[in-house]
Amino acid sequence: MVCLGNICRSPTAEAVLRRIAAREFPDVDLEVDSAGTADYHIGAAPDERAQRAGHARGYELGTLCARQVERADFERFDLVLAMDESNLENLRRLAPPARRQRVRLLLDFAPQLARREVPDPYYGGAADFEEVLDLTEAAARGLLVAIRLAPGRTAAGIA
Ligand code: 4NP
Repeated sequence: MVCLGNICRSPTAEAVLRRIAAREFPDVDLEVDSAGTADYHIGAAPDERAQRAGHARGYELGTLCARQVERADFERFDLVLAMDESNLENLRRLAPPARRQRVRLLLDFAPQLARREVPDPYYGGAADFEEVLDLTEAAARGLLVAIRLAPGRTAAGIA
């Protein structure tokens, strides 16, 4: 899960995916992590507003720690999911050409929403953090269904 700062959207998406996977898709074997394309917040805990909004829906973000995307991520993860078009573009540029197909938009997995981006809530308000949760919950379920249907029941079968 990748956003810009790794303190709002992608840690939320990480916590959401991890919890929904554990509770609703125990048959799916998954490794989840998050990172940012920027280096502004390396080492920081998630934004308090993201922690609070997540906590109210049962997601714990408090132990997460921001890091920047590294080239090894494109080898380690079968899917590298961007929160918006700008991060998608940056990730595609960073990825080795042979790994570029692993880079997708998270909301590709929630086509019913007819949205492409999880909007950046950093300069927004509480409603924007709620929207991040709504969008990431829908996409997490769509992604987990796609993995369950994929060959080998792993994300490698999707990319
Ligand atoms: P995120 O939100 O990419 O969802 O973690 C942001 C966090 C920090 C900044 C921008 C977006 N910033 O400009 O510092």
